[in-house]
Amino acid sequence: MTAERLNIQALCETRKKIRANGGRITFADFMEVVLYHPEAGYYTGGRAVIGPQGDYFTSPGASPLFGRLLARQFLRFREELGHPPGFAVVELGPHRGQLRRDVLAEAPDLDYRLVEVGDALPSGLVGCVFSNEFWDALPVHRVKVAGGHWQEIYVREEGEGFADALGPLSDPRLEEYLSDLPVAWMEGYETTVNLQAQEWMGRLGLSLERGFVLNIDYGFERAEYFSPQRPKGTLRCYHRHTLNDEYYARPGEQDLTAHVDFTSLIDTGRKAGLEPVLFTDQGRYLVGIGLELFREISERTAGQLSRERQAIHQLIHPSLMGNAFKVLIQKEG
Ligand SMILES: C[S@@+](CC[C@H](N)C(=O)[O-])C[C@H]1O[C@@H](n2cnc3c(N)ncnc32)[C@H](O)[C@@H]1O
Repeated sequence: MTAERLNIQALCETRKKIRANGGRITFADFMEVVLYHPEAGYYTGGRAVIGPQGDYFTSPGASPLFGRLLARQFLRFREELGHPPGFAVVELGPHRGQLRRDVLAEAPDLDYRLVEVGDALPSGLVGCVFSNEFWDALPVHRVKVAGGHWQEIYVREEGEGFADALGPLSDPRLEEYLSDLPVAWMEGYETTVNLQAQEWMGRLGLSLERGFVLNIDYGFERAEYFSPQRPKGTLRCYHRHTLNDEYYARPGEQDLTAHVDFTSLIDTGRKAGLEPVLFTDQGRYLVGIGLELFREISERTAGQLSRERQAIHQLIHPSLMGNAFKVLIQKEG
């Protein structure tokens, strides 16, 4: 068995924050520290490794084909906008920039910019804001039906680690969001609310003058998101390619993520001037933009066990990434 690394700084920073806040912090604040503290955070401290040696896979790591396909989409967006001067693609949450390399290998003349934690969004943007698995990585609030009404699950210290603590909702926007949901709640039902996603949609609406927002992530529309069959919500942790629900284990050493409520992205996008033009699953979407390329690969590699064939299967098959991942395109202007 390999020994687990302990991130003492993440532990200390979380404790410090809890004490400074009178004994408890929201789960979103906890995620902010363990994922995004400048030195101790899982992402910002350089601990996140995506791929076979790391904690989980994403589509850019599955194959350079993903970037090749997206390059075609970006070129189509440029064409649709009439080749405007200054057309740029801005990728949110690119991690180490693998996808940018793959896109530029296919379309080297694209102005392709990266926005990681702490970088500012450009203003007056004409082009496309793109992201793959960005929304699911934003800090979320945890809420629970207890005593017949919604309460928030905070984080408190317990022994050497941390534990849940119930309290009133910390932000009036939570109340507003929860009162909108068309569901009869059962006692004990838990879920997450991504207020930062709402804020980001507002920012994108301001940043984008003309063009598209292309979001790829795992998630559901609202009716499915808040299904009674998911009474504990979708919050989960990834550590060395295994899933767990030990949210307080390995602070700063494991990923924490929640599925995306696409209905909320669509609604808040609309308020920011972004009209949805496409919502589908990744499998259908990639077949739509890549059919000719898939045909060419299929003919060229017929009868072989090629990497390209495996990658196509991985990206589009409904039981792999094809159905769990959704694609939302919104248009500004
Ligand atoms: C799940 S990873 C996905 C990485 C990459 N897009 C991929 O598909 O392999 C989420 C990424 O979003 C970034 N991220 C989270 N919050 C962010 C923020 N506020 N601004 C920019 N990037 C952010 C993280 O640092 C991380 O690189």
